[in-house]
Amino acid sequence: MEHIVAETSSDFAQAVLAGLGQPRKTIPARFFYDEAGSALFEDITRLPEYYPTRIETELLRRHGMEIADLVGRGRPLIEFGSGSSAKTPLMLEALETPVYVPIDISGDFLAASAAALAQAHRQVRVHPIAGDFTGPLRLPVLARPLVGFFPGSTLGNFPHAAAVDLLRSFRGTLGARAWLIIGIDTRKEAAILEAAYDDASGVTAAFNLNLLHRVNRELGGTIDVDSFAHRALWNDAVGRVEMHLVATRPMRFRAAGSVFEMAEGESIHTENSYKYTAEETRLLARTAGWQPVKSWFDADQQFGLHLWSAPETILEP
Ligand code: SAH
Ligand code: AVI
Repeated sequence: MEHIVAETSSDFAQAVLAGLGQPRKTIPARFFYDEAGSALFEDITRLPEYYPTRIETELLRRHGMEIADLVGRGRPLIEFGSGSSAKTPLMLEALETPVYVPIDISGDFLAASAAALAQAHRQVRVHPIAGDFTGPLRLPVLARPLVGFFPGSTLGNFPHAAAVDLLRSFRGTLGARAWLIIGIDTRKEAAILEAAYDDASGVTAAFNLNLLHRVNRELGGTIDVDSFAHRALWNDAVGRVEMHLVATRPMRFRAAGSVFEMAEGESIHTENSYKYTAEETRLLARTAGWQPVKSWFDADQQFGLHLWSAPETILEP
């Protein structure tokens, strides 16, 4: 196994300085995933309210063989934002994958997940890449066509234009005649969505608040985390769940060498999770140069699993 480390704490410092320096404060969602954040995300996937993992896993189990019939067996599998790789064995087995390349920004978590997966699947060569999948990616030399795997609706964490750019760059990374198996959460009732992002046991709140603990741990922050509240709300006009950290009193703190002030009720916007209809999903694919091949949904259309293909030749990088 090889292991390349790309993210640095100075990326985090720069993002926090830029994000908290704006009139509407933000911190980009990719910084949720330090070791503690990745472990908390795993806890989220087991919550009764967080339906995406349960439904997508069932779709992969049910349709894995049909996907393998369509894409062919024995192709390398490249996973973007692999996390614990919990869903991956379903694909490795159905697709008879010889080489698996998990890519994730959470370096230590990735290394541990990749090692466990290699141990359990001795026939698969595992080549983890630690880094930001929105940046340039250098894959090992692999026989084409490649199969990309982007589950969990992680695409939803990017605004529309950035989502199109990301999908286009995956097409460049995967190359001609590639396939992409992608999971995308659908638009649905506000109550279901808001419960999924504000669960009764407070795990999602802990995941959101961990971002402030991370600022304190890594950037010399003096944030009183107990004075922030987790908020999740469905913004129907733009089709996204928003997560915020709301100051419950006026405060002043240091982070990354600067001083910040917040008024009571002011928020730090930490995540968007866009939801897509079937039609919007097809449009997204085509705009990014992918050809929609087939989609599978659960009976209640709560979550979609999609297979897309790339053209024979790719003119742009
Ligand atoms: N694929 C898993 C995990 C989804 S959670 C599942 O379906 O359950 C999102 C994952 O993407 C996390 O593991 C996080 O560390 C990773 N991630 C988020 N932004 C990233 C980025 N910009 N580059 C690389 N990995 C990223
Ligand atoms: C990784 N991503 C798709 C999750 C989501 O549903 O947007 C992250 C998450 N945030 C809160 N709960 C889960």
